Amino acid sequence: MSGARVGFAMCGSYCTFDKALAALAILKTEFPDITPIMSESAYSTDTRFGAARDFVRCMEEICGKRVIHKITDAEPIGPGALLDILVIAPCTGGTMSKIARGITDTCVTMAAKAHLRNGRPLLIAVSTNDALSGAAPALGELLNRKNVYFVPFYQDDPAKKPTSLVADFDALNTAVAEALAGRQPQPLLTAAPK
Ligand SMILES: Cc1cc2nc3c(=O)[nH]c(=O)nc-3n(C[C@H](O)[C@H](O)[C@H](O)COP(=O)(O)O)c2cc1C
Repeated sequence: MSGARVGFAMCGSYCTFDKALAALAILKTEFPDITPIMSESAYSTDTRFGAARDFVRCMEEICGKRVIHKITDAEPIGPGALLDILVIAPCTGGTMSKIARGITDTCVTMAAKAHLRNGRPLLIAVSTNDALSGAAPALGELLNRKNVYFVPFYQDDPAKKPTSLVADFDALNTAVAEALAGRQPQPLLTAAPK
């Protein structure tokens, strides 16, 4: 059990929500103080993977707190130094690219900017089909950014989606502990689950 205050932010990679929420439930057993955060897209978009309100409810039940989903509510994370680590899981190519370029126009990018100003770890669980194409510059940029760490990731379908990467959500707990200690979880490139 750890006293670290964790922020857990979900972006609009809807196909990974079930995995992310399962990982969040396990994380909660080790880190009781988790603040749930959702991007505006994640908070409000119903897709073929499920209704937004159901995912919001699930996140709130696991964390026992209301989801932060507005820029104005994420901003105090900086001045109040409210988190010891911020996890973005799943992190879209869009959010990764915005963080890399210093664009702060969503709740999650605001949370990231506010948190990073305090020199504390940001842990990204990437999930995007263009990680090795359009979002690759952002991935490279953030791999080389102070206080930014990645949950180990793999190519989920090299044949049909040759530029796609997805984080190993099963590695999340270990990755949080490593990032809190200031270490990039290794190996960064991991094998796809069988
Ligand atoms: C059904 C569906 C699935 C999506 N899956 C992904 C995904 O896995 N990765 C990604 O980067 N974007 C994905 N997107 C696109 C993002 O949701 C979109 O770029 C959104 O603006 C992201 O905003 P956010 O990063 O602020 O959550 C998906 C969109 C839809 C409708």
